Amino acid sequence: FFENAQYIPVDAIFQVTKDFLADPDPRKVNLGPGTYRDEKGQPWILPSVRMATTLVSDCGHEYLPIAGSKVFREEGVQLVFNGTKPFSEGRIASCQGLSGTGALYLAGQVLRKVDPSPKAVYITDPTWPNHDLLFSSMGFDVKYLPYYKDKSFDFEGYMSVLVTAPPGSIIILHSCAHNPTGCDPSKEQWKKIASVIQERHLFPIFDSAYLGFNSGSVNDDTWAIKYFVDELGLEASICLSFAKSMGLYGERIGLVTFVTKSLSQVDTMNSILENAQRATVSTPPKYGAEIAAAVLSTPDISEQWSKDLITMSTRIKSMREKFYEELVRLDTPGDWSHMIKQTGMFGFTGISPAQITHLQAKYHIYMANTSRISIAGLNDGNFEYVAAAIDDAVRN
Ligand code: LMR
Repeated sequence: FFENAQYIPVDAIFQVTKDFLADPDPRKVNLGPGTYRDEKGQPWILPSVRMATTLVSDCGHEYLPIAGSKVFREEGVQLVFNGTKPFSEGRIASCQGLSGTGALYLAGQVLRKVDPSPKAVYITDPTWPNHDLLFSSMGFDVKYLPYYKDKSFDFEGYMSVLVTAPPGSIIILHSCAHNPTGCDPSKEQWKKIASVIQERHLFPIFDSAYLGFNSGSVNDDTWAIKYFVDELGLEASICLSFAKSMGLYGERIGLVTFVTKSLSQVDTMNSILENAQRATVSTPPKYGAEIAAAVLSTPDISEQWSKDLITMSTRIKSMREKFYEELVRLDTPGDWSHMIKQTGMFGFTGISPAQITHLQAKYHIYMANTSRISIAGLNDGNFEYVAAAIDDAVRN
């Protein structure tokens, strides 16, 4: 059976952590995955999540409904859409997903079921590598929109390809904190992107894994989503992950939503979501859903969560600044101001593959092969070490 099986190279981001863990050197630094770390470089259990776990410690082991926890779905929808017309008119279908990846997968499955004709999915170049794998595995024709040029968002390049997308194509948008570049469109640019999507009858899917990491506020970081579905009244899918924003990485807690044109379409879209869920994971996991539901629905815990988002986003921002200032202090060749212009969890350094290899071999500093670093992996104990290592890599 397996004679013709071909080895598939391992996932590059997870390999970084594997290599890091296998390295015995005490100076090692992991700037690979998009996982928040505290000022001591340790995983952080959010105080709000600690509070929530005491409420759900005895949640039992029964199945959730196929669409997931009702409270979690309602609270997740309210979190993103509160104050919009789709929310007040009840025009939002939703289903719990296996974190952001599972939510995107369900969105793709549902769009296939709604219209099985061949369709292109446009993703940004560069993007989170799983976008290509996910959508090409579902049989979509994956195409790329230029995204990054001269250390910033390549708006002209992006628009030049977007305007050629055939009607019905799916466009994957990063709601905020673009992964990996940390460069988001300005509000004016978002408006122009939205007009093309509207005019060409394209379908937007917002990948929303880093809400709260730009500004510290989910409300501010959902501006683009609200512009599309409220101001313009567009249909869209919004896929949420609570891995980063609640630090619930291993619980696989996410939400897929579809904003419809009319209330009468919501039951149909919910039925297709349930059908797609049943065919793939059957029912979603309970523990993470109960925690997230408790965080979102309990006023004092939700207030604490808002503070936790500010703690995380502020620490990342301050590490960006310290890291940049250290590179300036070292007079490291080149302009590094993009490190403080970028937002969210990542810094797209722009160093070469040879320099990345040098950092790993000589300094035991691990990062994605795209030159992306997770700024959350920096702290007061290592940013000078990392800056000095980059300085050395750039000079040699
Ligand atoms: C990342 O981009 O590092 C994270 O989203 C982790 C992952 O699943 O790739």
